[in-house]
Amino acid sequence: AVMVARRVRSRRRWGRVVGVLKEFEEACSTSVGRLRQVVDAMAVEMHAGLASEGGSKLKMLLTFVDNLPNGSEEGSYYALDLGGTNFRVLRVQLGGRRSAILGHDMERQPIPQHLMTGTSEELFDFIVSSLKQFVEAKGNDSDLSPGKRRELGFTFSFPVKQTSISSGILIKWTKGFAIADLVGRDFSECLQQAMSKRGLDMRVAALINDTVGTLALGHYHDEDTVAAVIIGTGTNACYWERTDAIIKCQGLLTNSGGMVINMEWGNFWSSHLPKTSYDSDLDKDSPNPNDQGFEKMISGMYLGDIVRRVILRMSQESDIFGPVSSKLSVPFILSTPLVAAMHEDDTPDLSEVARIMKDVLEITDVSLKALKLVVKVCDIVTRRAARLAAAGIVGILKKIGRDGSGGITSGRIKGGSHCKMRRTVVAIEGSLYTSYSMFREYLNEALTEILGEEIFRHVILKVTEDGSGMGAALVAASHSARNIQ
Ligand code: GLC
Repeated sequence: AVMVARRVRSRRRWGRVVGVLKEFEEACSTSVGRLRQVVDAMAVEMHAGLASEGGSKLKMLLTFVDNLPNGSEEGSYYALDLGGTNFRVLRVQLGGRRSAILGHDMERQPIPQHLMTGTSEELFDFIVSSLKQFVEAKGNDSDLSPGKRRELGFTFSFPVKQTSISSGILIKWTKGFAIADLVGRDFSECLQQAMSKRGLDMRVAALINDTVGTLALGHYHDEDTVAAVIIGTGTNACYWERTDAIIKCQGLLTNSGGMVINMEWGNFWSSHLPKTSYDSDLDKDSPNPNDQGFEKMISGMYLGDIVRRVILRMSQESDIFGPVSSKLSVPFILSTPLVAAMHEDDTPDLSEVARIMKDVLEITDVSLKALKLVVKVCDIVTRRAARLAAAGIVGILKKIGRDGSGGITSGRIKGGSHCKMRRTVVAIEGSLYTSYSMFREYLNEALTEILGEEIFRHVILKVTEDGSGMGAALVAASHSARNIQ
């Protein structure tokens, strides 16, 4: 009788856990119908954000990048990249011919956690001293020749209201950064001051978002590149827009008739997004509640924490993971690379999942059946993220008339004549896409589902490498006086 009672209890517990998982899976559903609604909402919000300042949660920020590198850029440029997991300093030499990036040196270091929420002095100290050391170690004598001031491209991957190609005001922090006195300040002016205080003679020639750097590098290699997407610590996209579509800036004139728009799509929101109670809790506990809703469902900073929250709930509902481990209540203890490692564990006994459960979450002796549920949670969270990112990309294609919805022959080429759907390249970067193969597969699968095989053949997702660093040097070059013909 005791055995039977135990078996019944255990079956009931499994039932509860499976119930939690089922409910979660349903709430995360991304049927192609729902993805299409997200596509439409994205395109609608893009219009609204371009129509008026504050017209949408999508900020659709001007970048003042009105020509993209085409390979003719020349010279030697420094670049700084701040805003992802690593801080990077680069020196790039451009040879004036496509694919003639003559060489580049780079130094990379993780951003110390305390700097992300410290004071502005500490942050600038760190940036300028790293830059100074780099210049002293890698600088070329000709850089120091009289009359030649070194030029710097600065990638700053946060929402910035640009006032020119090389200046702009920080609107708000994202991705866990919080240095209050810098919000509302011109970041490039602050950097310029910090550099001169430390005797570094450099001019900030371009201040850009990382997506813009990715688009610049993508376009440098392939002129059919019209948009760029980053899915790393955070997520965002930018694209090339016609000036006359940027209604909020009537009278905006550019030589090329267009400008890159930084969408800040991390802040996109729509009632069609499959939001769960775990997303609401994550948002409530974050330093920026009600902000960056799309980003919190997609990017590397958050995926692991959604998984953690679901496992915690499953553990509270049953004893399949033994007594509830206190580690399950530690925010961000489960990073996205760990989720990828569990998700892609192909050992028959799921030994990698068991190892992570034990080493990171201090949960031991988990049955294979329960380990499989953990993998399932990783799968649900990652699949939803990848499919939503795909819908975002199609939203951009729809806005610029490259989603094939006007028929396969509707793509317009310059001059207005009709032709076959044009080859459309989207540059893409970020660890989720480049280092997490399940994520990449799910994203591509969803693109095919939404667009259809025929259209998808014309849309190319191209991984660029280091666009957020190299791109700043390229934009500095393509907007410096000597390279504008
Ligand atoms: C965050 C930032 C955005 C950046 C993205 C990717 O969403 O707000 O500016 O492009 O992360 O790094």
